[in-house]
Amino acid sequence: MKGIILAGGLGTRLYPLTKSISKQILPVYDKPMIYYPLSVLMLAGIKEILIISTPRDLPMYEDLLQDGSQLGIKLSYEIQNKPKGLAQAFILGEEFIGNDSVSLILGDNIFYGFDFINKIEKASHLRDGALIFGYEVDSPREFGVVEFDENYRVVSIEEKPKNPKSNYIVPGLYFYDNNVIEIAKNINPSERGELEITSINNEYLAKGKLSVELLSKDTIWLDTGNYNALRKASNLVYKMQTEKNINIGCIEEVAYNKGYINGDKLIKLAESYKKTSYYNQLLKLISNK
Ligand code: DAU
Repeated sequence: MKGIILAGGLGTRLYPLTKSISKQILPVYDKPMIYYPLSVLMLAGIKEILIISTPRDLPMYEDLLQDGSQLGIKLSYEIQNKPKGLAQAFILGEEFIGNDSVSLILGDNIFYGFDFINKIEKASHLRDGALIFGYEVDSPREFGVVEFDENYRVVSIEEKPKNPKSNYIVPGLYFYDNNVIEIAKNINPSERGELEITSINNEYLAKGKLSVELLSKDTIWLDTGNYNALRKASNLVYKMQTEKNINIGCIEEVAYNKGYINGDKLIKLAESYKKTSYYNQLLKLISNK
């Protein structure tokens, strides 16, 4: 399975923070935001990943993450000229996806959880249909929302409904078979002029090919799209790392634990962070083995 990280958009809900800089490069405690979704795809076992961003911001991601070989993965890059919607990722990524299935993750979504890691590892073997997740929140209006019937079967997904039919939203991590490319090419833009990911999910649902797995409350999910959510995300990562000794979004750690790089390579990576606590965290991984 291939992976795509969507790291474009205008970031207007975070202005003036994002007036001259990409949202997904902003710090979430000790790392750029994009480390978090990248670590999720890596945790799922996906090693070929396409990063999509704006013409202005893409060079910054290339500078930050290079070709991925330092992490034992393969990264490529693609420009999205205008933010025409999440589903455009599959059109822009057609050549990259080739005949494979594909996972899309939004560059501003943060996930963490042990059960979650098992779920995404399994999801990365998907070859037929689509798999998305449901996560219970207090205020679902700003998201894609799942409607269930009385037997908890999924009836529809609605994008930003005024009257949400449940409290289960669809977080920004999606797994699709190869048909997603053709489906993306054939959906119509929504009223806000975007190719919506929700339209894709509803196409799979109509064909009886959509699975929605509910994430437990033990899973952390955060969308970092506004000031408070961004602050909350930084606080949470800080707490987990300093109080519980659990690193979140540490791509070097994932690469090492997955066996994509060996101890020597990890030390080499760590050395570029020598003046930081990040350096100590990485070295601890080796001494704990
Ligand atoms: O966070 C989960 C939600 O993400 C889902 O529940 C919704 O169904 C889905 O539509 C999406 O809603 P948002 O309103 O949060 O999407 P937003 O426009 O903020 O875009 C999400 C990320 O994708 C953000 O980091 C910017 C990037 N993006 C967005 C668009 C529309 C792009 O790179 N290109 C785009 O064309």
